Amino acid sequence: MSRRSRDRRPSARPAAGGEARRPALGEMIMSRMGIKTASDVDFDAIDKLLAEPPAKANVQLQRLKEREASERQIVALQNSLREKPDDLVKLNALAYELRKLERTAEVVDVYRRILALDPGRVDLQHMLDAATGGRTPSRASDDYVRAEFDGFADKFDSVLTNWLEYRAPEIVVAAVRRVLGDEAANQVTIDLGCGTGLAGPLLRPLSRRLEGIDLSPKMVEKAEARGGYDALVVSEIGKYLATRRNAYTLAVACDVFCYFGELAEVFHQTHDALKPRGLFAFTVERNSGDGFLLQSNGRYAHADRFVRETAAAAGFDVADAAEVQLRVELHKPVMGGCYVLRRR
Ligand SMILES: C[S@@+](CC[C@H](N)C(=O)[O-])C[C@H]1O[C@@H](n2cnc3c(N)ncnc32)[C@H](O)[C@@H]1O
Repeated sequence: MSRRSRDRRPSARPAAGGEARRPALGEMIMSRMGIKTASDVDFDAIDKLLAEPPAKANVQLQRLKEREASERQIVALQNSLREKPDDLVKLNALAYELRKLERTAEVVDVYRRILALDPGRVDLQHMLDAATGGRTPSRASDDYVRAEFDGFADKFDSVLTNWLEYRAPEIVVAAVRRVLGDEAANQVTIDLGCGTGLAGPLLRPLSRRLEGIDLSPKMVEKAEARGGYDALVVSEIGKYLATRRNAYTLAVACDVFCYFGELAEVFHQTHDALKPRGLFAFTVERNSGDGFLLQSNGRYAHADRFVRETAAAAGFDVADAAEVQLRVELHKPVMGGCYVLRRR
């Protein structure tokens, strides 16, 4: 054992007065993480965690634990796939774990193996495009969005709010309130890509009518169970908006345009679905370059200038715009823009 490791081991001395000794924090961490030998310990990581407020440190520890569990799971899946290389369940599980750890080159290899065995998995093509940077579709396909969110619906609320510090609905509704001021009631609102309806309780007090629409039936089921919407529809946003004219005073899209690259068509459709002077509030992930970008995690990011130019061309003025932290992912803040546009 190195001197550095020995110096940092928790003290095993009995407490003064012979009372039963409470385990030191380091011991608790070691026992909860299943650490048996000093060589298992990353002291710098633990020092960083101990410098955090306790609630945050618990979350970080949990993440560390999950990361290690993923690494173990990957080795187990790889071993078992050596015996049975065509096992689609295991290949999918392997892709999922590799994606969590951002091991992009290996994920691409696994996606290709899955597609070779199961060419019907059109949803995987989007992740392959994203990971290889080969092709940038103008938006994520309906198949991809449906498969992704139907599969995620059960865990969505807990993962986003507990683990990802997701705040898009709060950010969007606060921006709308800033713009509306005293008029912040009586809106006829549509929540585009409403998902499980996390924005519903925030939009309800602003709205005399509140509709939600989403491609994923499972996400819409969750929104239905949450309640608060006057109507919920399973549909693609563009297809649905094309049937609505001058219908709404407020349209919101929280964390939805990360599934769209081009924004011109959906901005035009939203413009036409709004009444004159109606508001359109949404978030985008930030691309610090030009235009839009399909990131290796399958999400699109947009440059501020691109959003503003597309908005102006679709007939909107910018009523409010702010740079915001949307959530955290793999310990890093995900930055974005929150915009409130007004229909001219
Ligand atoms: C990250 S979730 C956000 C859900 C919700 N807005 C929230 O803030 O909790 C993105 C949602 O957008 C939906 N979505 C993405 N593209 C869509 C499209 N073209 N048409 C309809 N829904 C779409 C997905 O099904 C998913 O429920």
